[in-house]
Amino acid sequence: MDPRVLARYNSQEGADSYRDEYRKKLHRKLSDRLERRLFDRLFAQTGRVESLLDLPCGRGRLRSLFLDHADSVVEGDWSYPMLVGNRGDNGPSERVGYVRASGLALPFATDSFDAVASIRLNHHMDEQSEREHHVRELLRVARRFVIVTFYDYHSLKNRLRRLRAPLNGKRPKRTLSVARVQELAKEAGWRLVTAPALSLVGSGHRFALLERVGS
Ligand SMILES: C[S@@+](CC[C@H](N)C(=O)[O-])C[C@H]1O[C@@H](n2cnc3c(N)ncnc32)[C@H](O)[C@@H]1O
Repeated sequence: MDPRVLARYNSQEGADSYRDEYRKKLHRKLSDRLERRLFDRLFAQTGRVESLLDLPCGRGRLRSLFLDHADSVVEGDWSYPMLVGNRGDNGPSERVGYVRASGLALPFATDSFDAVASIRLNHHMDEQSEREHHVRELLRVARRFVIVTFYDYHSLKNRLRRLRAPLNGKRPKRTLSVARVQELAKEAGWRLVTAPALSLVGSGHRFALLERVGS
């Protein structure tokens, strides 16, 4: 991740402003609403899960949604202020735990959680090898389901960005393709169930649901 972006997430001010963005900014509210519709579709396919790791949890935006579908939730993030803020907001709960962790080296044994969700992290990871390694880590610690978002290389938004890049000099997006996610799943004994786009025109993000084969 860009060290400046990471430093901001890892500060009290950055953590609070991330929470406030989703409360105040229209485009964030809209995308949050679209995401919740997608989650409804994905959880309709998984049914209720026993335990869910939400990493990165950020400022707990999806906490109540995940608690609607899981008996217990562990919120994980690299940012300490995000975790402290979430615990402070919600107080102690037997159903929620917190852990500081990197998505590149999850400090959990294989098969630790019934389900693992990684929302809006993959596209921050600089190297393709890191983005793929993160997916492998999620598959390692999950027993049955993984939900992972990634920025789709073949999305309309990314195609347009690549076309315009020679003119505006913008850096390429940090992407994965659906086919590559499918390959990573297969290599680990998993399958890609579905990977709907958040929006076909307005966003390059996909929300992939993966399931362990034979689970
Ligand atoms: C865009 S936010 C997404 C938060 C949450 N999933 C959501 O959708 O609201 C990205 C989060 O990733 C965290 N983060 C960045 N690099 C990380 C890493 N290597 N491992 C774990 N968390 C990381 C940041 O602290 C930040 O909270």
